[in-house]
Amino acid sequence: MQTGRMDLPVDGMTGLPMCKQLGTLIEVQHTSENTGEMFRDVMRSYPTGVTIVTSISEGKPVGGTMNSFTSVSVRPPLVAVFITTGSHTAMAIAESMKFNVNILGSEQEKDALKFADPDMARKFAEGNFGTGQNGIPIIHGSLACLECNLEQQIQIADHILFVGEVTAAYHMKKGNPILYYKRRFMELPSEP
Ligand SMILES: Cc1cc2nc3c(=O)[nH]c(=O)nc-3n(C[C@H](O)[C@H](O)[C@H](O)COP(=O)(O)O)c2cc1C
Repeated sequence: MQTGRMDLPVDGMTGLPMCKQLGTLIEVQHTSENTGEMFRDVMRSYPTGVTIVTSISEGKPVGGTMNSFTSVSVRPPLVAVFITTGSHTAMAIAESMKFNVNILGSEQEKDALKFADPDMARKFAEGNFGTGQNGIPIIHGSLACLECNLEQQIQIADHILFVGEVTAAYHMKKGNPILYYKRRFMELPSEP
């Protein structure tokens, strides 16, 4: 067989090596600062939607911007989110055993930034939120909301995996979602 660079087999049509090493392979080790950066860099190249996960603590609204949100199961309807241990939002969910997932629209970059700030006082101003059937805050202007009862919480390294059973799911507004990619907020080029 004809071979190309590094003895890789060559595609008969294009003459190009059939397998090409596109980047430097760095084994991820917990000890190395450098490889931690590579891990984060690779994760940043995975695009996601953006949510604000809300809850309450001692009767006060709490919430944070989260993109680690995913669905887990349909029967029963379960969702999950990974939240930093010790953050306001993680502590509030553990206390109230309830949370809401607000799915953000393309016009909500300001909300996404505001709720990514640990300064809780700035987050909830009068008029910018309502309350779900479960008594947990809903962020006005969001596309959709999932109201959840805490099903399970699992401590994993420096995050807690919160699994919630969805008790109510509803659309609130028409529009495209906001996306997060390479540390930037983006929107879809057009309506799908
Ligand atoms: C786009 C985006 C996504 C984020 N996703 C998460 C996440 O999934 N889990 C998490 O713990 N923090 C995430 N953060 C960071 C939190 O929003 C930030 O730590 C915030 O302070 C949490 O609020 P709290 O400290 O009041 O709970 C994200 C931040 C941004 C900008």
